[in-house]
Amino acid sequence: AIRTFMSRTKRPIILTTNAKVGKTSLIMTLVSEEFPAVVPYRAEEITIPADVTPERVPTHIVDYSEAEQTDEQLYQEISKANVICIVYSVNNKKSIEKVTSHWIPLINERTDKDSRVPLILVGNKSDLVEHSSMETVLPIMNKYTEIETCVECSAKTLKNISELFYYAQKAVLHPTGPLYCPEKKE
Ligand code: GTP
Ligand code: MG
Repeated sequence: AIRTFMSRTKRPIILTTNAKVGKTSLIMTLVSEEFPAVVPYRAEEITIPADVTPERVPTHIVDYSEAEQTDEQLYQEISKANVICIVYSVNNKKSIEKVTSHWIPLINERTDKDSRVPLILVGNKSDLVEHSSMETVLPIMNKYTEIETCVECSAKTLKNISELFYYAQKAVLHPTGPLYCPEKKE
């Protein structure tokens, strides 16, 4: 039974666009329901047990840190991933640009064309801006069918944190196609 369980374990990974967009904070906020004042470069890998996840599947979350990991380690994680969350910071235009200039091509190069890995665009630090980044992100979503959904969130105010991980699970279990983009939730 444990084996079946393990093989069904989902393995999303969290990627950066630029450093410091808040990947580690997002994971640690999910786990502790509290915004951590200080975070390491990279969160420990965690498995969230099935009974506390909305879709009832054990979910394995892997952080990525450019400072602590080699490219080779990154590529290995990408090839093992069931879903990849590409995190940018809504107050950092460069980090949005890098989604298309760097991360999506890199992921496509490292994953099998036939077994598409769903991507989720995550705009973190929504507490720092007045208006949404959706206008910038929607054309990207429409261009790349592998992007399952996008979500704006804030590790700091806990906005949309549980939703983000729910979307990640859902993208693996019930892919819906490219056009679904949830409304910003206040
Ligand atoms: P690297 O691993 O170094 O690439 O960074 P990271 O993407 O893991 O970001 P990290 O979680 O280390 O956060 C970087 C900085 O942004 C820290 O000072 C966090 O406190 C801050 N931060 C993270 N999330 C938020 C957020 O939602 N809002 C605000 N205002 N700050 C945040
Ligand atoms: Mg980090």
